[in-house]
Amino acid sequence: MQMPCAMQAISTVHLTFLPKLTSLSPSLPFSHQMATKQLRTTSISMLSFITFSLFLVLTFGKKTLDCNLFKGSWVYDDSYPMYEPASCPFIRKEFDCIKFGRQDHLYLKYRWKPDSCDLQRFDGMDLLRRFRGKRIMFVGDSLTLNQYESLLCLIHASAPNVWKSEVGTHVSPFTGIRFEGYNLTIEYFPSHYLVDINRRSIGRVLNLDSVSAGHIWQGVDVLIFNTGHWWPRSGPAQPWDFIQDGGKVLKDMDRTLAFTKALQTWAKWVDQNVGPSTKVFYQGISPDHYHGQDWGATKQDSCMRETQPILDASKIVGTVPQEAIVRNIISTMSKPAYLLDVTFLSQLRKDAHPSKYSGINFRNDCSHWCIPGLPDTWNQLLYAALVQS
Ligand SMILES: *[C@@H]1O[C@H](CO)[C@@H](O)[C@H](O)[C@H]1NC(C)=O
Repeated sequence: MQMPCAMQAISTVHLTFLPKLTSLSPSLPFSHQMATKQLRTTSISMLSFITFSLFLVLTFGKKTLDCNLFKGSWVYDDSYPMYEPASCPFIRKEFDCIKFGRQDHLYLKYRWKPDSCDLQRFDGMDLLRRFRGKRIMFVGDSLTLNQYESLLCLIHASAPNVWKSEVGTHVSPFTGIRFEGYNLTIEYFPSHYLVDINRRSIGRVLNLDSVSAGHIWQGVDVLIFNTGHWWPRSGPAQPWDFIQDGGKVLKDMDRTLAFTKALQTWAKWVDQNVGPSTKVFYQGISPDHYHGQDWGATKQDSCMRETQPILDASKIVGTVPQEAIVRNIISTMSKPAYLLDVTFLSQLRKDAHPSKYSGINFRNDCSHWCIPGLPDTWNQLLYAALVQS
């Protein structure tokens, strides 16, 4: 990843130097002496150019390692999307926007461009080779499912003829796909809260202090976690009756605090149970687009009928409060998870949700994302992080 940046630095320098070199050439035929002198000047210029380039690479080469992949903008790219929607057998109805009637396709044509380097293209064959015999597992809610299915589509597009089989049905509805021949398994483990919900005589108890599913995640080579969207839910959409916090069982509590405590429990679990060879990621909070005032539109606006990203980032006024909590907790881990910091780049994508083109009859889904679409970029970022380390 650092290479494209260094290359870019060189070509910028080259362009700046070029006018100087060419401005010498018109006078070349006039005198031999002049020409020799000019030639010397040219080679001195070339030499200084090379020296300067080398200097740049050595000085800034290391800097490019720190290129913030998550700070950048969306640029039009006609070569996108990375696969045809109909070519992927792994897209569930909720995310299959084109199949369910979406006519505008401009939203498929944007590439994420980090400010100070280029994001490398996703290479599914390379991933299969590097992770031969390994397991990659996504653990989280339906936003995680979004990313899981996108990764399957991306690998399938690179390796359509690799035989795939379904695995992991021992914990229903836990699902997975194995790319046979490479023996790479990609799995999805549904978990809305990461911590447990236990059935007791009093009802369903959300236990902020335990992650009993953890034993299933152990020994996996790459783990990608997420929780967030279920915490504010109440009423019939809330799948628990009580919260256990330490020794106390409560009817309810501040949801931000509950989220914080659960994430602390998860962080502690990772620190105590995940071996050094496992790569742990946290999928950053995925923003929704139900409220136009979050990006300078009116209150009535949502993702519906949006066909282009927000191209002026200063329009974004809404914040995602869980973001700071996630960042803070990760920083306290003894083996910090890699934060796939997709919040900002996703905030810009008001155009990338299924809205009414979801196959499960949502009135207007501005929370999940179409596949192909934005989650492919999340996976490009995951891939970049995996091949870098
Ligand atoms: C396939 O990978 C799994 C780990 O994911 C490993 O336990 C198993 O032995 C591998 N099978 C073969 C045939 O290499």
